[in-house]
Amino acid sequence: MALPRMFFGLAALVTLVLASGFSSAAIYQRSVPQGWSLHRRADPDALLPLKFSLAQSNLQNLEAYLLDIADPTSPNYGKHWPADKVTDTFRPSKTTVDVVHSWLAVDNGISLDNIQLSRNGDALHVNVTIAEAERILGAEYNIYRHGKTGIERVGCHQGYALPEHVSKHVDIVWPTVHFGNSVVTRRDASASSLLHVEHESGATTQPISEAELEASGCDEAVTIECLRDLYHFDYEPLAADRNTIAVAEFEANIVQPADLDLFFQTYAPDRVGQVPTLVSIENGTNSPPGSLGEATLDFDLVMGLLSAKQEVKQYAVGTTNANQNPVDELLGAFDASFCERDGVSDEDLVDCGDKPLPNVISISYHFSPDYIDPTITPVVTRQCTEIGKLSLRGITFVASSGDSGVSYGTGQHGCLVNGTLVNGNPVGTFIGQLPASCPFVTAVGATSVVPGNSVDDPEEATTDFPSGGGFSNNFARPSWQEAQVSKYLSKFAPDYAPDIFNRSGRAYPDVAANGWPTVVATNGKFFQSGGTSASAPIFASFVASVNDARIAAGKRTVGWINPALYSREFAHVYNDITNGTNPGCQTEGFPAAPGWDPVTGLGTLNFPLLLAAFLQLP
Ligand SMILES: *[C@@H]1O[C@H](CO)[C@@H](O)[C@H](O)[C@H]1NC(C)=O
Ligand SMILES: *[C@@H]1O[C@H](CO)[C@@H](O)[C@H](O)[C@H]1NC(C)=O
Ligand SMILES: *[C@@H]1O[C@H](CO)[C@@H](O)[C@H](O)[C@H]1NC(C)=O
Ligand SMILES: *[C@@H]1O[C@H](CO)[C@@H](O)[C@H](O)[C@H]1NC(C)=O
Ligand SMILES: *[C@@H]1O[C@H](CO)[C@@H](O)[C@H](O)[C@H]1NC(C)=O
Repeated sequence: MALPRMFFGLAALVTLVLASGFSSAAIYQRSVPQGWSLHRRADPDALLPLKFSLAQSNLQNLEAYLLDIADPTSPNYGKHWPADKVTDTFRPSKTTVDVVHSWLAVDNGISLDNIQLSRNGDALHVNVTIAEAERILGAEYNIYRHGKTGIERVGCHQGYALPEHVSKHVDIVWPTVHFGNSVVTRRDASASSLLHVEHESGATTQPISEAELEASGCDEAVTIECLRDLYHFDYEPLAADRNTIAVAEFEANIVQPADLDLFFQTYAPDRVGQVPTLVSIENGTNSPPGSLGEATLDFDLVMGLLSAKQEVKQYAVGTTNANQNPVDELLGAFDASFCERDGVSDEDLVDCGDKPLPNVISISYHFSPDYIDPTITPVVTRQCTEIGKLSLRGITFVASSGDSGVSYGTGQHGCLVNGTLVNGNPVGTFIGQLPASCPFVTAVGATSVVPGNSVDDPEEATTDFPSGGGFSNNFARPSWQEAQVSKYLSKFAPDYAPDIFNRSGRAYPDVAANGWPTVVATNGKFFQSGGTSASAPIFASFVASVNDARIAAGKRTVGWINPALYSREFAHVYNDITNGTNPGCQTEGFPAAPGWDPVTGLGTLNFPLLLAAFLQLP
């Protein structure tokens, strides 16, 4: 399964009384992340640009603002916000800025010249020496070295602390337990967390000859034609020049034009010679090329399904292995407030906020596990918030729900044992994943045609790998999915002990699409591949087509679609999937069931009905 993973290392909260003398909020500690080693103490005189991400205003209203434009019964449906209204609404309060500024300048004696408010007013950049940073944060800074690449980063894995009156105004301090770029190599400023990027090798990908392909049914080899038949998807765009769709790729995942052509010759002849339009975000230079699998799968599907008239963009994010926080780079490319970091000004970060917003973006990666943890929770909360803010501007975020059932991480199978993520599928608490579990993302699970059956029969949840799904620990269940999810919990959920999954969390996936065995062309041959990595771009292609029809009808794009998907107006647009489970953590996971379930969501789509329902809305 071509679902690369990105994850945080292990972390634990310890409450310590700090040497620096103030009574503190909890200090955040973690082990040195996998692949890195502690190299040496940082030089006390070296300059360390710090970024204090400030708590934003009005976040408690974010969902209400979004519902106002995304609830199908709202009179303001589709009235997306302009960028400056988003910035102004969530700008940190004057009190927030003043408290943090005065703590730095007055209490800690940092010179005013070395403290700077970011352009959007949501971060304070502070130039201090390592010695000063250690004093004000009660921390010990080290240089860490990445085993494979030798790249060095600065951070303080043993933790840092803020006084209580300050900590409530600060979301995250960079770099701390989230590593930053080395104090010596300033230009490469994008890296700032313990996230690291690893590609899954796609172990179950199998070659298939053209003769075998000819003879295969859609239960054995899923072609573009199978997908069209399954979902009655046959859409000719009317406003392609005014519509956009993008696929995000990380880790230098690229497509070979020759492979695309091989695929297009067979399945989309009009596309022969076309490649995705590359939008390069924080492209490193010393990067080995990434795996071909993910990007090939994504672009074969999106370009194969959509007419040759529709341009498809590739947002290629960060291409160095040592690239530490690619999610923030993607969000930062859309929204400058998310990318200024490490004291580097806007002008230095060429990709800061200057990339065009796509109408829909498909993401077949996961970024981090979803459990409560002092180093994970603030980061994923802020990422989900930024996704919500971008959704206010009319973007639809579509993500794969994961290929590991109720456990975390492809091939890793992490479960929570006594509060710690333990790999290898132990008995333990289920762990969800970001971005799928963020309520502002539409998460897509995977289905297959039942062996021996055809596209006219009901699909089942995939059995070649367990489709990701479950309940968030970091995000509470939103009202728009309460009816469907509580019905599942009361009628179909297994009787697991209360600590096995979080019954009050945001439940996902939202929908499903075929994810196995998808036909792709790689290295001059056809292969069977797949995963929820396939399901997300298939669904994103449907959203792009809905947007096209709405644009042609003089309407706005759909933006955040989850409240519509769960509404009464859309109840008839699904093929309900009722068979299959998503095992993990030594359990059967959850069973699919009539209506919404945590394996296949509301179901797969009947595209003409989906389109008609969205065209009914203002
Ligand atoms: C920190 O120092 C760098 C390099 O001298 C400078 O470009 C930047 O503006 C400074 N930032 C602040 C907040 O003083
Ligand atoms: C990154 O930049 C290099 C050099 O400019 C270019 O050849 C390559 O295509 C870029 N890769 C991506 C994924 O943007
Ligand atoms: C989890 O904690 C309990 C109680 O502290 C202990 O008995 C048990 O052995 C621990 N389990 C593991 C796998 O560490
Ligand atoms: C369960 O989810 C809620 C949010 O819905 C959260 O507040 C709570 O801490 C979670 N429980 C656990 C054990 O993670
Ligand atoms: C559901 O799975 C069972 C057992 O594998 C099978 O007998 C049945 O035909 C399946 N039903 C559907 C609708 O796929």
